[in-house]
Amino acid sequence: MRKLINGTSIDLGVCYYPEHWDQSLWSEDLDRMMAVGLKTVRIAEFAWSLIEPREGEYTYEFFDSFLNLAAEKGMQVIFCTPTATPPAWLTEKYPEVLNADIDGNLYRHGSRRHYNYNSPVYREKSRNIVEKSAAHYAKHPAIVGWQLDNEFNCENDRFYSESDTLAFRKFLQEKYSTLEELNQAWGTRFWNQTYTAWEEVYVPRKTNNHSVNPHEVLDYYRFISDSVNSYAKLQADIIRKYKKPEDFITTNGMFANIDYQRMERDSLDVLMYDSYPDFGYELDSYNPEDAMKDRWWSRNLSEVRAVSSNFGIMEQQSGANGWNTRMEAPTPRPGQITLWTMQSIAHGADYVSYFRWRTCTFGTEIYWHGILDYSGRDNRRLGEIAKIYDKVGKIQEIAGSKYVAKVGIIKDYDNIWDAQLDRWHSRVDSVSQNALFVTLQQTHTPFDYVYLEKISSVEDLGQYEVLFYPHACILTVERMAILEQYVAEGGKLVMGCRTGYKDMNGRCVTDYLPGLASKVTGTDIPEYSFVAPDDGHVMAEWDGAEFEAAVFNDLLAPVGDNAEVLGTYISSYYAGCPALIRNRFGKGEAYYFGGAFAEDTVRVFLDKLGESEPYEEWIRLPESCELAVREKGGKKYLFVLNYSAEQAEITLKTDMRNLFTGEREMGQIVVEKYGVRIYVV
Ligand code: GAL
Repeated sequence: MRKLINGTSIDLGVCYYPEHWDQSLWSEDLDRMMAVGLKTVRIAEFAWSLIEPREGEYTYEFFDSFLNLAAEKGMQVIFCTPTATPPAWLTEKYPEVLNADIDGNLYRHGSRRHYNYNSPVYREKSRNIVEKSAAHYAKHPAIVGWQLDNEFNCENDRFYSESDTLAFRKFLQEKYSTLEELNQAWGTRFWNQTYTAWEEVYVPRKTNNHSVNPHEVLDYYRFISDSVNSYAKLQADIIRKYKKPEDFITTNGMFANIDYQRMERDSLDVLMYDSYPDFGYELDSYNPEDAMKDRWWSRNLSEVRAVSSNFGIMEQQSGANGWNTRMEAPTPRPGQITLWTMQSIAHGADYVSYFRWRTCTFGTEIYWHGILDYSGRDNRRLGEIAKIYDKVGKIQEIAGSKYVAKVGIIKDYDNIWDAQLDRWHSRVDSVSQNALFVTLQQTHTPFDYVYLEKISSVEDLGQYEVLFYPHACILTVERMAILEQYVAEGGKLVMGCRTGYKDMNGRCVTDYLPGLASKVTGTDIPEYSFVAPDDGHVMAEWDGAEFEAAVFNDLLAPVGDNAEVLGTYISSYYAGCPALIRNRFGKGEAYYFGGAFAEDTVRVFLDKLGESEPYEEWIRLPESCELAVREKGGKKYLFVLNYSAEQAEITLKTDMRNLFTGEREMGQIVVEKYGVRIYVV
């Protein structure tokens, strides 16, 4: 059985860099970690040179000593492949392994993640170091798992080296077989872009107006994801040959241009995330009007959960954020490390590892604080970690329980990447995604992200009463078939403006809009427009409720006997025109809304569809608190997370057990600032 995230325990750990400290400190450090319940360390992710100091010369003593000491102390170790930071000898001798900017200038040695995934030399060197590390260390009793690389695509998620262009051509040849097909898919007749030889095709390059063919860019993002995934698999396949059967393979963080569902299928046993909610208080980006701040990380955690239902946090914030060149954020206030740890657990984390034990005294991350400051003396944050350990001890029964939600937000990578390259798409999508998250939080409505993939089926959707698919600009016949079946079987599907106007190449369809979604939504869109800036907020009305039809408006017409106009626009020149149509389809219903979703809009939908405050018979909470629910064996665990600097008053309407105290509670309860409660029902 896996030693972590195995459904039987919730565990704590910490990131440690034995190479940053004098060896004489290791023993004391490990003892002090164990004393506060940090019983797993992650090591070695940037330490290539300690294993291969010169090309082809391998030395294992350094990590042997550390691993032996760890085993002696009963400390578990997650060992990493060190490929995020190639050694100087490698990049100097083989500059082709470096990533380049869009002009082809190489990113040089001195930072990290400066390599490209497609260089045959880098693949060979990576294969060697992973093979040597796994062959030597994998059977060590201290090791319980492996981390691939460190944060794929962090720092940079675009690749423009020569190897990338060569690999892109191959990717395209496999996808399209002939240049004619590529020319057709990319619409290269536009502006005379027709290709006559594969050698004429490049990864996007600098162009006049920076407007690279959009269909090419969409394929380029798919290509990057494919490159990362095949590189991760190269490493995972090697480790699997050597690791103990119970040891897991993971990677950490979530970044752009990666299909993580595929990575989990191809390479990982479980995904881990790096959670730094203190960015909500970052000096440069701080927005006093933002009601979410550190609560935005619940959105990220929901994305992690869409990959691994129970996951790990490899790096959980434990000190101030900052590099010497960027980012300035305060030290977590008393209670916040606990709050953020519980935020992770609330969303499904069964392992939480803090970043990092001691704050580094050199390098660009001297301000990225760990639990301890430079001197290593005991401090308030270490005291808080000890209390967290105590609390985690009391909530062990939660291990393996699953986050539960009746509302889902559908996503797919084609639309995510299309929104990344297409301004019209991103404008509606960002407004709706933000508003959905904020409103679901404020109405204490747990939700999941649900990814539509090639392997998806209606069973993946069946547990949700309502699914929002806000702006599926790209639709496919296969995805539409699953959605139709979901609705036919009784589901409620809500789609927003701009649905169905593109195909998988990102080309616009000539069908009547919303294209493939016309049938299930019973909707036709004879006309559409951006909301004109001098129209202000365009409003719509549904049964007396007025709300915004933000950003972009499809002017709707119902089609067929089952379609019913529920709402109309009440401002602009199209006042009186249908803005919302409900179509009864089989046992369920599909809603087509002509705008993007603002917060008041989401609120109206949740109220009318009966999804808001699903636990209000049990508990009432102010907006400053998040409610997250995990479930196991018929028991529900209600997490109350107070993100505010003010105390919060909550009301328990039924008798519940407080998991931290073991006592039964009911009625009015005061939750202290940054406080957390977990109740069992
Ligand atoms: C993470 C990364 C760590 C460390 C930390 C602080 O993204 O995995 O290695 O760099 O951020 O910047």
